[in-house]
Amino acid sequence: MKEKDIYILGIETSCDETAAAVVKNGREVLSNIISSQIDIHEKFGGVVPEIASRNHVEAISHVVEKALVEAKMELKDIDAIACTYGPGLVGALLVGVSYAKALSYAAKKPLIAVNHIEGHIAANYISHPELEPPFLCAVISGGHTHLVHVKSYDKFTILGKTRDDAIGEAFDKVARVIGLGYPGGPKIDKLAKQGTANIELPKTYFDNLDFSFSGIKTAVINLHHKNPEVNHADLAASFEKAVTEVLVQNTKKAAKQFDINVIALAGGVSANSYIREEFEKLGQEEKYKIYYPQPVLCTDNAAMIACSGYYEYMNGKTAGLTLNAIPNLKIAYENEEK
Ligand code: KG4
Ligand code: ZN
Repeated sequence: MKEKDIYILGIETSCDETAAAVVKNGREVLSNIISSQIDIHEKFGGVVPEIASRNHVEAISHVVEKALVEAKMELKDIDAIACTYGPGLVGALLVGVSYAKALSYAAKKPLIAVNHIEGHIAANYISHPELEPPFLCAVISGGHTHLVHVKSYDKFTILGKTRDDAIGEAFDKVARVIGLGYPGGPKIDKLAKQGTANIELPKTYFDNLDFSFSGIKTAVINLHHKNPEVNHADLAASFEKAVTEVLVQNTKKAAKQFDINVIALAGGVSANSYIREEFEKLGQEEKYKIYYPQPVLCTDNAAMIACSGYYEYMNGKTAGLTLNAIPNLKIAYENEEK
């Protein structure tokens, strides 16, 4: 007998995107609505937490409604409601958590608490239906740079992480200093294509699998301040090359150390075209299988939250109405192998 289809409504409000999505059986996206606040935060050069919360409050009802309409579903057809409860900006997270709790109570549907980082990893399951754990995942976003051993759908070990800036944060800061605006990642990606990586920058490696990007970032900023005439496209290309080299080298070291030959990228920075190319090269050289989500699933979205929520739901992990936002939430089984 065919198993019953499971429909999850996902809600994501951890930073500056208000998002809702309906996903069938964990991997089939029926709708994926994203209301971005980028235009609003752009004039401040970064996300202003209180403004983000206020905009989530305004947008969330319409975004959730639209996700249901586009999926041609009503709340009664949904099996469970999954929401991001951390990590992220507390005021922003609270909007999604409170909204999801109210929906869950009113519609008598189970509530599922999803970790945003686990959501980013899960985006790969949507883009690559054949992908299954175990694999190694480099979670590279505005807030995180983690090398994660994904042991199963709900068991993760962090093998290495940044000791200072997240990689996306470094992209955004460099972009701001050279006058590209917010968010900087996509702008550096574009500008770097017009330049040559001809500037040597200091790269930091540790004995373990941790990262540091502040040295590269500071060197770029100092170069610009000392010589504002420096070619910005060359600077962008050199910056991108340096951070990518550190990322690729550490990932390769982890893959060898833990004998893993399937590598996935996740998070906003995994939309970067140069990083993707370099990982493809690594895959060819070392015979690794390389995965990354389609661009719209790299940056914050709710389809990835619904997908991660599906696996939680299938494992019987539902949350109660006492669920709260946890801004510094860690991922499961952290540091077990360190
Ligand atoms: O995953 P995400 O949407 O939010 C967090 O969870 O942090 O990631 C946002 C980050 C920003 O730092 C943004 O500049 C970066 O992802 N980003 C990129 C690109 N697209 C987005 N960085 C480099 N190249 C890109 N194409
Ligand atoms: Zn994110």
